[in-house]
Amino acid sequence: MKKIKIFSEITVYDEIAELPENIQTLMAQAVAIREMAYAPYSHFRVGAALMLENGIVVTGNNQENAAYPSGMCAERVAIWAAGSQYPDQKILQIAISARSENHLLNQPIPPCGACRQAIAEYEVKQDKDIEIYFMGEVGKIYKSASLHDLLPLVFDSSNL
Ligand code: THU
Repeated sequence: MKKIKIFSEITVYDEIAELPENIQTLMAQAVAIREMAYAPYSHFRVGAALMLENGIVVTGNNQENAAYPSGMCAERVAIWAAGSQYPDQKILQIAISARSENHLLNQPIPPCGACRQAIAEYEVKQDKDIEIYFMGEVGKIYKSASLHDLLPLVFDSSNL
């Protein structure tokens, strides 16, 4: 028997102004689409903006449903839109921002497990890491250089 340690690295930015300029712009697009979320049940708005290799930005936000499980997270709305409209374009970066209508989100809000799994699929498909930047409404921004930093021991097509 032995134990293994799994290493994840996250870069922490104290404020938006610290981000690279192109990511500041991408995060602003995530914030803008966040405000158009359909979140009448959770009052928790999430926006995601994806930068493709060809310079096109694809955005998405959470879409809820009276039958709660039928709703969808912002990240998957965005990544599936990119996958369906630009199937041959690699995704370089994803910026994510969340805002609650009930309290100030001042901590980075990470993508949920199902969204991480969906992002993993595209990282494997395109054979290129996807940088993920995520934040709340205000405060620090976390960056993972690859989905693997957020989802170690990922299940993917190599396991089939
Ligand atoms: N949500 C996202 O859009 N992304 C996540 O990664 C976590 C949760 C949405 C789903 C639901 O509409 C609301 O936030 C509350 O869970």
